[in-house]
Amino acid sequence: MRPIAVYPGSFDPPTNGHLDIILRATHLFPKVIVAITDNANKYPTFPLKDRLKMLRESTKHISSVQVEFFSGLLVNYLKKKKATVIIRGLRAISDFEYEFQMALMNRKLNKGIETVFLMPDEAYTYISSSLINEVSRLGGNIKDLVPHSVEMLMKKKKKGV
Ligand code: PNS
Repeated sequence: MRPIAVYPGSFDPPTNGHLDIILRATHLFPKVIVAITDNANKYPTFPLKDRLKMLRESTKHISSVQVEFFSGLLVNYLKKKKATVIIRGLRAISDFEYEFQMALMNRKLNKGIETVFLMPDEAYTYISSSLINEVSRLGGNIKDLVPHSVEMLMKKKKKGV
């Protein structure tokens, strides 16, 4: 039986790079749970409920994808979901050190869990949620960089709707 995979992250906001990783993961695993949480080292721009809404909207056409929140340790969440694979995206070498550390810590916490790294299409390697937030806040165009539903919600937020 192929394992259930969890793709965790803060997704603040979700980008086309995240969507690319989600799609690639669905080609490898029968069920992919996109699990949103707050990163203890970052102050969030969007509340969890907005991130959930944006991700559900942009993945609604993919039946094997489920989007949820989680809190606490990621390995405990995987156990609860009977999942044994963590998906993470690697955009560049600069991501590697942080990802390597997390993967080994998660393995230390639960030996039955493997982290699988996927590389997004090279068109997305320079995109990050923090850059999207900055460009959008300063009036730049983020149209080709985030899913349509994310662009719309970000526009609404800026207008204060
Ligand atoms: O998108 P991000 O912000 O890089 O995601 C980081 C995230 C949320 C995957 C990481 O902070 C995490 O797993 N948090 C849950 C708490 C936890 O298990 N911490 C130990 C990780 S080794």
